Amino acid sequence: MSLEEINMNKHDGDSIMNKSITILGFAGSLRKGSYNKALLLAAMELMPEETKLEIFDLEGIPLFNQDLENQIPERVKEFKTKIKLADAILIASPEYNYSIPGVLKNAIDWASRPHGDNSFEGKPVALMSASTGMLGGARAQYHLRQSFITLNMHPLNKPEVIVTFAHQKFDKNGNLTDENTRKIIKKLLENLVEWTRRLKTE
Ligand SMILES: Cc1cc2nc3c(=O)[nH]c(=O)nc-3n(C[C@H](O)[C@H](O)[C@H](O)COP(=O)(O)O)c2cc1C
Repeated sequence: MSLEEINMNKHDGDSIMNKSITILGFAGSLRKGSYNKALLLAAMELMPEETKLEIFDLEGIPLFNQDLENQIPERVKEFKTKIKLADAILIASPEYNYSIPGVLKNAIDWASRPHGDNSFEGKPVALMSASTGMLGGARAQYHLRQSFITLNMHPLNKPEVIVTFAHQKFDKNGNLTDENTRKIIKKLLENLVEWTRRLKTE
């Protein structure tokens, strides 16, 4: 590689390091008082500088029907566009019956279609889960990680944000009051931004 090429690469790297990062977040719960939606709101307050978290509500996404995958509903079009424009994805989800809630899996299935137009292709992704139980939604996270293989996403491994006994960690207005959980979310966001920048330079 010539000195000129090395310098050009270095400048590319510099611009990626300086470029602001946009993360798209969505929750696997439609519930108004959802702890997982509240985790995303907490994440908004904890984002690193020069980065932005946009939240998309899965409300309004109809049930997936493969007969319709070439006449995509408006709400799904919006979702697919937001995903494509984002540099990275952040999912906060509960666990329903030991797995991914139907609402979330349905939205992921839509965004992965039609064949050849998987909106998640190559995107970095990080996970959080909150549950009122003692396992914090961990099993939904493991099942999502399986889907990331076929979606060809790049999951962040650590830290794992698994919020157990969620009802004890928020105040009545949905503010995350647990300091340790806030710290680990902050770390997750820093790592996701670093991971995103690293993937862009490769
Ligand atoms: C249909 C259903 C199934 C559930 N299954 C589980 C489960 O397998 N494991 C778990 O930890 N909590 C389970 N829960 C409890 C959820 O963790 C709890 O309702 C949580 O608050 C839901 O997330 P949200 O607050 O974001 O809506 C279940 C709740 C529902 C409604």
